[in-house]
Amino acid sequence: MLSDKSRLVIEATLPVVGAHIQEIADCFYRRLFDTHPELLDGVFNRGNQAEGTQKVALAGSVVAFATALVNTPDQLPENLLSRVAHKHASLGIEPDQYKVVHDALMWAIADVLGDAVTPEVAAAWEEVYWLMAYTLIHIERGIYSARGVRPQTVWRQWDVQQKLRETDDAVTFVVERTDDRLVKTSLPGQYVTVQMPLPDGTRQPRQYSLSRADKGQSRQFTVKRVHGAGKPDGVCSTLLHDTVNVGDVLTLSVPFGDVTLDDAAGRPLVFASAGIGITPMAGMLSHLASAGSGLPIVLLHADHDEESFALRQQVLTDIASLPHASIHAWYEQGADSLLPATRVFPG
Ligand SMILES: Cc1cc2nc3c(=O)[nH]c(=O)nc-3n(C[C@H](O)[C@H](O)[C@H](O)COP(=O)(O)OP(=O)(O)OC[C@H]3O[C@@H](n4cnc5c(N)ncnc54)[C@H](O)[C@@H]3O)c2cc1C
Ligand code: HEM
Repeated sequence: MLSDKSRLVIEATLPVVGAHIQEIADCFYRRLFDTHPELLDGVFNRGNQAEGTQKVALAGSVVAFATALVNTPDQLPENLLSRVAHKHASLGIEPDQYKVVHDALMWAIADVLGDAVTPEVAAAWEEVYWLMAYTLIHIERGIYSARGVRPQTVWRQWDVQQKLRETDDAVTFVVERTDDRLVKTSLPGQYVTVQMPLPDGTRQPRQYSLSRADKGQSRQFTVKRVHGAGKPDGVCSTLLHDTVNVGDVLTLSVPFGDVTLDDAAGRPLVFASAGIGITPMAGMLSHLASAGSGLPIVLLHADHDEESFALRQQVLTDIASLPHASIHAWYEQGADSLLPATRVFPG
C-alpha cells in the first residue's frame, strides 16, 4: 500500500509523468545502457529498442501501477504483474538488477522533469517503484521456485534434431536435450526464450511459443522469418532460418508464460489466431489431442492463404482426432482450400 503522504504527491504528478513517458523511457534506456552496457548482451532485445513501441513498456508499466495504486488501492494489476514476471523469468532476471533499473529510471525522471522533481516528489515515486519491484521480485521468486531453477540456471543446451519447412516463411525446429537431465515440463501455451549468438559475438534473446506438446526429451517451436519491408530484416528469425541446421546446438530457457490452457474446468474452448499467432494455439491443441479431450473446441484462424498457414498439417490432424473440434479458416486471398477445414471463408 502506498503511504497517504505519497498518494497525494503521486495523484498530483501522474499527469505530468504520464505526458512525458516517451521521453522518460528514451532517457532511461540511454542511462541504463551507458552505465550497464552488458545488459545489451543477452538481456534486452535490441530489435525492440530500435522499433520503439516496446521501449515504453517498462516505464509505462510503472505509471500504470501508480495509477492502480491511487485509483484501486486494494486491487493490484495482477495480469500485468504476472505477464511481466514470466517475461523476466524467461530472461533470468535477478533481484539485484532491480537496483540498477531503479537508478536509471529515477535518474531519467529527474532529468526529464527537472525542477518539478522536488525531494518529496522523488520520494513518492521511489515508493511506487519499490512497491512494484518487491511485488515482481516476490512473484518471480515463486515462478523460479515452481520451475526448480534459479535466475542463473534457466538456460539449457539443446540439439537441433529436425528443421521442418512449414511455409515459405516459417520453419519448425524440433530440439532434443544434449544431456540426460530431465526436461522441465511445459504448460500448454508457454514459450521459451532462445538465446541467439550474433556474428558480433554478443547474444540476443527472443521468445518462441512451444508449438507442440513436449514429447519425451524433445520440444518444438516454429519461427516466422521477419521481412523488414523497408526496415531491417529481423535479426534472430533470419539467423534461425539461414544458419541454424540439424546437429547445431541452441540455448533455450526453460518454459515460462502465464497465458496457458485451462481445460480442467470442462468449459468449451475457443481459439482465435492469425498468421504465426497459430503457434501457441497449435501447442494447446496438440496437448488436448494427446490428452484425448472430449471438450467442444473451435479454432478460428486467419491467414494469407492455405499455403501460408504454418503447422496446418499438425493442427488439422489434431482437430480431426478430437471428437468435438472444428476449424473455421479465413484466407485473405480467397476461400480456396485443399485441406479438410470445417468452413473456409474469403477475407
Ligand atoms: C511470448 C512471445 C511468443 C512468441 N512466439 C513466437 C512464435 O511462436 N513464432 C515466431 O515466429 N515469433 C514469436 N514471437 C516473436 C519473436 O520473439 C521475435 O520477436 C521475432 O522472431 C522477431 O525477432 P527478430 O530478431 O527476427 O526481429 P528483430 O530484429 O527483433 O526486429 C523486430 C522488428 O523491428 C524492426 N527493426 C529492427 N531494427 C530496426 C531499426 N533500426 N529501425 C526500425 N525498425 C527496426 C524490424 O524491421 C522488425 O520489424 C513471440 C514473441 C513473444 C513475446
Ligand atoms: C519495477 C521494475 C520493473 C518493471 C516495472 C518492469 C516492467 C517491464 C515490462 C512491463 C516489460 C514488458 C513485458 C512484456 O513485453 O510482456 C518488461 C520487460 C523486460 N524487462 Fe522489466 N521491469 C522491471 C525491472 C526489470 C529489471 C530489474 C530488469 C533487468 C535488468 C528488467 C529487464 C527486462 C527485460 C530484458 C525485458 C524484455 C523487454 C525487451 O527486451 O524489450 N526489468 N519489464
